[in-house]
Amino acid sequence: MYEVKIHCNMGDKGAITSENASKLSKNALKRLRRDEHWEKIKPMKRRAYRERRKVRKQALQEKEKASEEGNRETTGEVMSEEQRALLRSQRKSLREAKLIEFLDKANSNFEIIIDCQWDHLHTEKATKSLAQQILQCYGSNKRSSNPVKMVLTGVSDDLLSKLKKTNVESWNATYVESGDYIGVSKKQLVYLSSDADEVLDELDSNCAYIIGGIVDRNRHKGATHKKAVSQNVRTMKLPIKEYISLSHTHVLTVNHVFDLLLERCKLKSWPAALDKVIPRRKKAFTDHSEDDACECKQVKEGEETEENE
Ligand SMILES: C[S@@+](CC[C@H](N)C(=O)[O-])C[C@H]1O[C@@H](n2cnc3c(N)ncnc32)[C@H](O)[C@@H]1O
Repeated sequence: MYEVKIHCNMGDKGAITSENASKLSKNALKRLRRDEHWEKIKPMKRRAYRERRKVRKQALQEKEKASEEGNRETTGEVMSEEQRALLRSQRKSLREAKLIEFLDKANSNFEIIIDCQWDHLHTEKATKSLAQQILQCYGSNKRSSNPVKMVLTGVSDDLLSKLKKTNVESWNATYVESGDYIGVSKKQLVYLSSDADEVLDELDSNCAYIIGGIVDRNRHKGATHKKAVSQNVRTMKLPIKEYISLSHTHVLTVNHVFDLLLERCKLKSWPAALDKVIPRRKKAFTDHSEDDACECKQVKEGEETEENE
């Protein structure tokens, strides 16, 4: 507990000094150092990201300009203002048609609900990380050839304010609810939990799969399973150990579970989907004993979560 508190309150106040270093455990020190390192490189990473975005935007503008000029060359004419407006409206119609296709596909697929009603288990940092993971889910959904309707339930004001920074209101096929997931979908609810007995084999478009929006490095083992059972909601676990050799816990992050469902839908094969989604470093624990593997995996998941922030 002591370790966690220090870890979460990291800021200038949490900086490592010779005085507090001697009081901390090896793991807490490691986390503090990692946090300090992250704080240092964060501004650089942000700048690099903005730079990449700028370059991408410029490239897109140039591409559009080149295509206008290409049209001009093939017709041998300089485009009039009217022709340009026509081209713009054609592009707009194309975008709208693509959006309709996206929404149609999303509405005919299974749904994914992310149950965010876990604020009581979250630190400020974990809530921030959850918002990042949800943003990654949206990115995957947007790019997917088999998108789904994504519903975020139990969204607190705190989480909502974080999601608003990423423009959640403008996300297509995404719905945000402050209440519980019961009653939000006409489909059959299935809560995904690594603690379930039943294994998810086939994905069913009549189902809404619920992912627990928890960032806990599985400290609260069984939390989602307990909740689902108490609400008489069917629970299922992902078929991970059926196809790859990891530790027996096999607890994935929210965005990995989301990606896995999308990839399974696209590739129609669990091994192929697992291969694509599970990070290589997580697959490399087969040499450890089970207990070691769990331990390693939890630490790695933590790292992954922090990368997401
Ligand atoms: C980081 S885990 C949270 C673990 C948490 N202790 C719990 O009780 O579920 C985030 C969510 O991803 C889903 N998940 C992760 N691994 C899973 C697995 N092997 N099978 C089914 N669902 C899984 C679950 O919905 C889980 O709530």
